[in-house]
Amino acid sequence: MTNRPRVSVYLGVSLDGCIARPDGALDWLDPFNDAAIGDYGYAAFAASVDALVMGRTTFDTVLGFGAWPYEGKRVVVMSGRALPEGAKAERAQGALAPTLKRLHDEGVRHVYLDGGALVRQGLQEGVVDALTLSVMPLVLGAGRRLFDDSVPPLGLSLVESRAFPNGVVQLRYQLRR
Ligand SMILES: NC(=O)c1ccc[n+]([C@@H]2O[C@H](COP(=O)([O-])OP(=O)(O)OC[C@H]3O[C@@H](n4cnc5c(N)ncnc54)[C@H](OP(=O)(O)O)[C@@H]3O)[C@@H](O)[C@H]2O)c1
Repeated sequence: MTNRPRVSVYLGVSLDGCIARPDGALDWLDPFNDAAIGDYGYAAFAASVDALVMGRTTFDTVLGFGAWPYEGKRVVVMSGRALPEGAKAERAQGALAPTLKRLHDEGVRHVYLDGGALVRQGLQEGVVDALTLSVMPLVLGAGRRLFDDSVPPLGLSLVESRAFPNGVVQLRYQLRR
């Protein structure tokens, strides 16, 4: 019995564990956006979630893309600041557990947890169930790292690994309890 939805993380990372350049730029992912390769399973993953819970930096980045990519999905932004007028998202703050419980009470069964700091918070709170990391064949050197000293030791079971012709390796893990 659980009183929270299943929580999955799906991120693109450099070989040295970065999810963004120091200024937040994601341009280094662009060369791997390749129609010949496909979407690395993203659409199927996105279709499997009922809601997204994301950090404010990630939300602001997505707003900068222009078109809102989460039409029809419930989106919760964890932030200490009000969202812009007309945002197609709701805001929450503080611990993830109460937000996840509320979503579960409202029928959400699978959450896509997105961000950097917020994913680390989820790992700290022990509420992450699965991690899909698509490892790009490059070293960024400087960047915003996914894992830092705030993350507790984690046992992981490898569920699947897929290597793509362009050198991307996708690792799908379940967290061991
Ligand atoms: N490579 C990829 O696949 C990928 C995927 C997603 C994101 N990214 C990028 O990675 C970077 C992540 O940045 P980030 O580490 O700053 O991550 P983030 O988790 O998206 O945002 C962190 C911010 O969200 C707010 N926040 C987070 N948890 C909160 C909580 N529990 N309560 C209240 N507010 C909370 C705080 O902002 P406020 O206090 O200001 O509200 C905090 O500074 C971004 O550049 C993003 O674009 C990359």
